Amino acid sequence: MPAAPDLILAIDTSCDDTAAAVTQGTTVLSNVIASQTQLHKPYGGVFPTVAKQAHAENIVPTISVALKRAGVRIDDISTLAVTLGPGLAPALEIGIAHIKQLATETGLPIIPVNHIHGHLFSSQAVAKQRGKKHTRMQHEKGLQTEVFNSKKKQNILGIIVSGGHTEFIRLSGNHKSQSIQILGRTLDDAAGECLDKIGRMLNLGYPAGPIIEELARNGDPMAYHFPLPLTHKKTFDMSFSGLKTHTRNLLKTIGGTETLTKSDVSHFAASAQYAVFKHITYKLDKLLESQQFDEIWLGGGVAINTTLRRMIRETIHKHTNTVTNPKLQVPYTRKLCMDNAAMIGVAAALSPHTKRFATAQEHELLQRIPRWRADELLALQ
Ligand code: KG4
Ligand code: ZN
Repeated sequence: MPAAPDLILAIDTSCDDTAAAVTQGTTVLSNVIASQTQLHKPYGGVFPTVAKQAHAENIVPTISVALKRAGVRIDDISTLAVTLGPGLAPALEIGIAHIKQLATETGLPIIPVNHIHGHLFSSQAVAKQRGKKHTRMQHEKGLQTEVFNSKKKQNILGIIVSGGHTEFIRLSGNHKSQSIQILGRTLDDAAGECLDKIGRMLNLGYPAGPIIEELARNGDPMAYHFPLPLTHKKTFDMSFSGLKTHTRNLLKTIGGTETLTKSDVSHFAASAQYAVFKHITYKLDKLLESQQFDEIWLGGGVAINTTLRRMIRETIHKHTNTVTNPKLQVPYTRKLCMDNAAMIGVAAALSPHTKRFATAQEHELLQRIPRWRADELLALQ
């Protein structure tokens, strides 16, 4: 029988949510998020010092709830996992300092995780079986969790669309060696950030992504013209800042938001949302034209959006005459799309970059990496 995967306590404080979770391999035993959205609403975005203060207040109770919901005690945990980056430096600091303190108290090893790897692996998380209380016996019967368990080389495309990141990532390899490569990424704002900024110009409230999705249901995506960025470039990189500028100019031309009726706002939201998503699927189309993948995984807060999912599925479907016919894999709950810690625990179990830091000296090496790229190995000595 394969060895049971570690029971992991994971935390993420990379942005504005304090998150803690207990996972085992790909199984999510609990996934708790203490949201700070209300605190940041007045600023129309995340205010770093407010985030830091709220993380410091919320981290201990969030971990307690995560352990309780999983039905385990800290003594049952075998490994700790924490986000080192990318993210807001003052926010990351709180999670890292707390995990180090826990490691000192318990003697447990720490797995540092890249937040983007969390979003990348989030579609692979599975729910624990309902009604089953977690026992020590269950860890022993735990599933063998390997993405690459065969000799055949696998080729996976990860699409990450969130408030902080918009990237196409290739995860490839077999049971012996794996690698992560960025195929394309935004050169400026992320897709979610762009939607939030457009929403701000329309006075919709924060975060605007879900509000825009709701308004767009009653709007015509062709009502307002938006440009399609970077069509002249052969790369799979994206750029959303032009869509933001276009929105500002468009609003100026039509005489400001005051001139818009309720249905105009819906049409505007639908058109802007379509423009942001069309840019992503245009580049995805080009990528699938030139490369084949065995699986396609979607993650990130914007991946909650049903229009985005439909547009991505339609784009993949266009390429189904090719040898591979991958189905889009999405996280099983909305919570796993947003910033959360279960995805960090799952990434700690599955990521090819996983490294354990066991001693106090090694723990000291773990420092925040606010600009950590998904394809950068942890360079610690
Ligand atoms: O993944 P996430 O929680 O945090 C980051 O890693 O950034 O993503 C937050 C982003 C915000 O920009 C928010 O507006 C967007 O996800 N978002 C949505 C939806 N729900 C959240 N965007 C479009 N449609 C949604 N339903
Ligand atoms: Zn995120």
